Amino acid sequence: MMTKLKYLLLFAVLTACSNAIKQGKEGTTYHEKHRPQIHFSPKANWMNDPNGMVYFNNQYHLFFQHYPDSNVWGPMHWGHATSKDLIHWEQQPIALYPDSLGYIYSGSEVVDSNNTSGFGKDGKIPLVAIFTHHDTLIQNAGRDDYEKQSLAYSLDDGKTWTKYENNPVLRNPGIRDFRDPKVMWFEAGKKWVMTLATKDRITFYGSPDLKNWTKESEFGQQEGSHEGVWECPDLFSLDYNGEQVWVLLVSVSSGGPGGGSATQYFTGQFDGNKFTASDKEIKWVDYGPDNYAGITWSNTGKRKIFLGWMSNWHYATLVPTQQWRSANTIPRELGITKAGDKWLLTAQPVTELDVLEGKTVRAINVDVTDYDLTGKAGKVSGPVKLHLTADKIESFAITISNDSAQKVVMGYDKENNQFYIDRTQSGKADFQDGFAAKHTAPRFSNSPELDMTIVLDNASVELFADKGLSVMTDIFFPDQVFSNIRIQSPAHFSMKSLQLTPLKSIWE
Ligand code: FRU
Repeated sequence: MMTKLKYLLLFAVLTACSNAIKQGKEGTTYHEKHRPQIHFSPKANWMNDPNGMVYFNNQYHLFFQHYPDSNVWGPMHWGHATSKDLIHWEQQPIALYPDSLGYIYSGSEVVDSNNTSGFGKDGKIPLVAIFTHHDTLIQNAGRDDYEKQSLAYSLDDGKTWTKYENNPVLRNPGIRDFRDPKVMWFEAGKKWVMTLATKDRITFYGSPDLKNWTKESEFGQQEGSHEGVWECPDLFSLDYNGEQVWVLLVSVSSGGPGGGSATQYFTGQFDGNKFTASDKEIKWVDYGPDNYAGITWSNTGKRKIFLGWMSNWHYATLVPTQQWRSANTIPRELGITKAGDKWLLTAQPVTELDVLEGKTVRAINVDVTDYDLTGKAGKVSGPVKLHLTADKIESFAITISNDSAQKVVMGYDKENNQFYIDRTQSGKADFQDGFAAKHTAPRFSNSPELDMTIVLDNASVELFADKGLSVMTDIFFPDQVFSNIRIQSPAHFSMKSLQLTPLKSIWE
């Protein structure tokens, strides 16, 4: 039997060891200053758009625009990472390198189960990547036709890739911005449909075999936001009480609601050839500044899982990280709902995020006139999820701060019926004029109740209000991580429940 003293000594030694391990991690790969702990970021160097996301053989694949030789944008490759649960990622060797046809720009992947492409061999189903070749030589020669669509395939679960020998499969008709193919199987027409960003509109193409493409229709020259060039589209349907509603995502390089790049969406119908919008309104996937070029995973059935690049072209290359640049959002499950006669997209963190949850601290009927959550629950020492509910919605502010008086304030402003995230005093911001700003999102719900989930990581906050109807994403760079949380309200009201849940790092 161990004596009590020996037990205590052993406990002290184990605690010291675990602290040493914790401290030892600081500054190492995936534990550098500002490194996201629950979001994917590349081990080293530059990343932008998520590409080619596909679910295949029990694995989620994430490819991404990657420049492996520097922490700023350059000759584009497709980086690769895999995950069993959408949350823990393992970076894999680079999937696609630039070649004689150019850089490898954004695109998508499909599982060609019927081997329509003929790339399958010995019964092996091919994974097919459809991407843009961007030829800088042609671009520098002043010609317009420098972007075209090409294929590559893998017969070993995405480990190795072969580029199709007859690339490109879709030549450029003379359009300067002709890129980012998102391909899906359209079952009713037994054909592939490519949704392509073509400068100031979307062009749809059809194909029986992924190799031969025919133009079907165009959409959007007169619709949506046109302050920037159109990029990274996606087309899919969502189910609303048995009704099929089509959603077209279109990223636009400038003119977003938070300034700079952002992703708009259209709702409507798609008949296999043509998309028709249900309304003329400009709607955004996310009203914060840091969610761009997001698309959904292929081959996940009815479930639509979205992932965005958590940055903005206005400052992506300037943010104060060195080892790596940029992370992705939390994967989000998309849904569709109706507010009056308007179709609205909803986005919520995937439930898989729950695997990271530690012990939740709960409080009920909390007067939030001035509520010091840290005083009750202790300092936050890493990523957390905060969930709030209330019977009525009143103005309130949640301040997350560090001991250097840097802070991010977020909440709801009843007078303007808006949610907001204010990062004006969030830490380092001098790398770009306008980074230090307050962003707002309209409240679409007219429910008297409040429901809000906040996902906080070392360098980002994602806010999901009214079950994902109003969504915002902001990044920030404080000197020390935010560890204090305080809720205040001029309305002197009580929240029904408040739950604070620590989230474990995905890199441990
Ligand atoms: C969007 C984008 C895409 C392009 C890629 C290049 O962020 O501009 O249109 O394919 O990035 O890296």
